[in-house]
Amino acid sequence: MEHNMKVAIIGSGHVGLVTGACLAEKGHQVVCIDNNQAKIRMLKAGRMTIYEPDLLKLVKKNYRAKRLTFTTKISTGVKSAEVIFIAVGTPLGETGAADLTQLERVAREIAEHLPPSRKGKSHYKIIAEKSTVPVQTGENVKACIKRYASPKAQFDIVSNPEFLQEGTAIKTTLQPDRIVIGVESKRAARVMCKLYETFGAPIIVTDINSAELIKHASNAFLAMKISYVNALANICELAKADVHKVAQGIGTDKRIGLSFLKAGIGYGGYCLPKDVAAFAHIAERLGYPFNLLYEVQRINRDQRTRFVKKIEDELWVLKDKTITLLGLSFKPDTDDIRESPALEILRELLAKGARIRAYDPKSCAQVKKVLAHKMLTYCNNLYVAAKGSHCLVIATDWAEFKQLDLKRLKKVMTHPTIIDGRNIFEPERMKKAGFTYRCIGRPYEQIADRK
Ligand code: UDX
Repeated sequence: MEHNMKVAIIGSGHVGLVTGACLAEKGHQVVCIDNNQAKIRMLKAGRMTIYEPDLLKLVKKNYRAKRLTFTTKISTGVKSAEVIFIAVGTPLGETGAADLTQLERVAREIAEHLPPSRKGKSHYKIIAEKSTVPVQTGENVKACIKRYASPKAQFDIVSNPEFLQEGTAIKTTLQPDRIVIGVESKRAARVMCKLYETFGAPIIVTDINSAELIKHASNAFLAMKISYVNALANICELAKADVHKVAQGIGTDKRIGLSFLKAGIGYGGYCLPKDVAAFAHIAERLGYPFNLLYEVQRINRDQRTRFVKKIEDELWVLKDKTITLLGLSFKPDTDDIRESPALEILRELLAKGARIRAYDPKSCAQVKKVLAHKMLTYCNNLYVAAKGSHCLVIATDWAEFKQLDLKRLKKVMTHPTIIDGRNIFEPERMKKAGFTYRCIGRPYEQIADRK
């Protein structure tokens, strides 16, 4: 590669590690930094701290090629890199604002290690926000670095938000729809465009505030689309219409688009819930109460409650009923359980006294760390989980569940009832297979009976 550059990424979580591996794959020289020594030890030993398809392969390949290295020392990365990414967590604080403690600490540490430029020897660096941050954070990062760095340090702040989706993180990073770069100088824009020139994606260059806003606005819009379709699903249930058809009917209008119109038990995960909350918070602080976002959140919460009610409508009393729960992660192809709707439902069912047999292809180990209950059994096989069950609940749309052997399932269950929170089956097929099948926003019996 012609234009390989030296890059440091501070924070080796989902975003940092994927970004690092993908930039290395493109030929850049990347050092991934994290203050968690155990994590860095694992990564050096070729082991993953998270499950993300193809990530391990990519990390190992680039580590062997010496394009990707790992360290706990911020100083190492700051000294050598032309671009320093900050990819630490910006979790939701108690007030609903993003908690920027880690970001501030890292900015300070970068500042302390920024080498001063001298006559004839420039050490110009770019410090790029990769973490999702509220608009105007760049101004604070800049002020913070100025405060703690040598007056001769030469740097620019850039906002370069990530749009990767867990489960397809490699693809969504290597082949992004767009790359957003918020800059204050032409020099910074040039360096960042060079970094991404082989990605073949449109690059949108803006000011820093706009770039920061684009990230919050994108995730909030996606959340709004999901809440919109979930509200439609509830209307469909009342009106005896089919939300699949309605979503198809509206989504084929190119202005609306088909993606993110899957009705279910609401959005979860590390990003959407916290970003909607943080966006609403910053908008209010700026003087514009973004009430639409509060409604998006309300619909999302309500979707879980409605789903548990649906289970109760079918089983009546939940106490001592055996329920199989399929799926614990917030979405398929990840072991991430942060803000997982499945976990909320699990907790609610346990609170109502149900006996739960849970199965997830990847995330049982994660859930075990945070949830132990005498009424909860973790199973390592889908059919074992379904054994003796009064009802099977689908909470995550893993591909494995879609390929369920219905005959075998029916044999092992006490009652052939499925409550599907992700609409993975056709109601008609389930009825034919002898199941009582309930899903979200689709008329089950009516469709089959009408024929
Ligand atoms: C999201 C954004 O998509 C990504 O661009 C950003 O960088 C990080 O946040 P991610 O958290 O990986 O990515 O998950 P996403 O694929 O957006 O799904 C979020 C939640 O919405 C999941 O719980 C998913 O099951 C749910 N969802 C998604 C729906 O319920 N219906 C849909 O149609 C789409």
